[in-house]
Order: sequence, then structure tokens, then C-alpha cells
Amino acid sequence: MQKDKEKFKIFKEVFDESTMKTIYKLSSDGYIDYIIGPISTGKEANVFLGKNFDEKPIAIKVYRTETSSFNNMWRYIYGDPRFEKIKKSKRDIVFAWARKEIKNLEIAINAGVNAPEPIALRNNVLVMQFIGDDDTPAPSAKNMPPKNPKRWMEIILEYLKKMYEKGLVHGDISEYNILNFNEVPYLIDFGQGVIKGYPLADELLRKDIENILKWFKKLGINTPSFEKVYKEIIKGDIRNG
Ligand SMILES: Nc1ncnc2c1ncn2[C@@H]1O[C@H](COP(=O)(O)OP(=O)(O)O)[C@@H](O)[C@H]1O
Ligand SMILES: [Mg+2]
Repeated sequence: MQKDKEKFKIFKEVFDESTMKTIYKLSSDGYIDYIIGPISTGKEANVFLGKNFDEKPIAIKVYRTETSSFNNMWRYIYGDPRFEKIKKSKRDIVFAWARKEIKNLEIAINAGVNAPEPIALRNNVLVMQFIGDDDTPAPSAKNMPPKNPKRWMEIILEYLKKMYEKGLVHGDISEYNILNFNEVPYLIDFGQGVIKGYPLADELLRKDIENILKWFKKLGINTPSFEKVYKEIIKGDIRNG
């Protein structure tokens, strides 16, 4: 009983009235036929598996409008020239955050990075390509480390570089935000990403590099030095050089 109550509380926190309306609109606009069930419950968002009207799986990321960590969001959005006009209300910040995630995803895809293709965005709900087989989501690289970590390291460092060339720093790179889809890496979770020139961009880029090198070291790879990787990524960029 207590457990059911707890579940209902979570349900209400995610699917408040305005979010229900948003999902309904995405459905009547032809993006979501139905929702099958939760894939993940995170700090700021819940991810669901759904189906589109062709019975194809889709991933639906719902940012909670009431329980997100606004201070953290504000820190990574304030001063971003793409979001200069947002008001400092919870709702506006969360909606802007979802827009930021989809914009960052678009930049990453344009840079040639494997990441979920954005499909639709409305308010706090983001519909994207589902990474997985049939209805089974690809595991995170944390849960399923790559069989060929050396190759993965090359690919992921190349991804960081390609994104940076297009002006984007992911900002939250770790084995939790890389999916292992049949041994192919997919980057996810772009909400925290910032664009080059943003005050925190350099700090976040350094953190991304450190995190990824640390992880590959743990997997037994003889990793290049931080300095070498950093220089390679920001090559020719005088602002950071
Ligand atoms: N496009 C997707 N396809 C399949 N699974 C996904 C997709 N996006 C997210 N997930 C799953 O949901 C989890 C949380 O997503 P993520 O974007 O990292 O949100 P959070 O901000 O909660 O960490 C991921 O670890 C992954 O298991
Ligand atoms: Mg994540």
C-alpha cells in the first residue's frame, strides 16, 4: 500500500496537468501513439519507451517541472546567448533546458556524432530516436563496458573533438551517458551541454576529458595524457589556447 502511494506520488510529479496536455498535443500532432513504460528515473527527468503511429519505438524524455534542480540548470543556462530571454521561473527554466538539450543534440548529430536523432520537442517533453533493439533499450557503457575499449576511446575522443569544432561541449560525459548499442557507442544526455565561448565551456571540456580518460584507464587502457588530448581538441582555438 505504502509502495503504491509512493508510486502514485512519482507518477503525479512527472505527469502533472500541464505535462499531460503537452503529451496529448504531441500525440495529436502525430509524434506519440502511446507510452509503454519507464526506462529510467533521473535527477531531473524521466525517460519512457513509447511507440509512434508506425509502431516504432521512441524515447520520450520528460523533464519534471516541479522537482528539477533549478539552481543547477540555471548555472548551465544563464549567460548562454541562445537563451538570453528566459525568465527565472521554474517552468521557463525547465522548458529552456529541454530546448537546450534538443539544440545540443542537433549540433552533435550535425558533427557526425552517434546520438539519438531528435524527433519533437514541446515544453518539457522531448521525443527522440530510441536507441535499442525492439523494445529493449541499449545498456549504458557503465553496465556493459565495451569489448574493445581502445577503439571506443579513439571514437569518443574524436566525438569530443568533432563537437568542439561545431562549438559544443557535452559537459556531462561519463560511462553513464554513453549507451553501448551492440558495441557501438551513442552519446546521450545533452542538457548540460554548453557552447564554446560560454564562461563554463572550458571547465566542462576539461572535466569531460578527465572523466573519459579516467574511465578508460580503469578499463585497462594506456591512455594519452590529459594535456595531449586537450590540445588536440581545442587545436587552433585561440580563446582557449
Ligand atoms: N534515446 C534513448 N534511447 C534509449 N534509452 C535512452 C535514451 N535516452 C535515454 N535513455 C535511457 O534513459 C537513461 C537516462 O537518460 P539521460 O538522458 O541520461 O537522463 P538523465 O538526465 O536522467 O541522466 C539513460 O541512461 C538510458 O538508459
Ligand atoms: Mg544521464
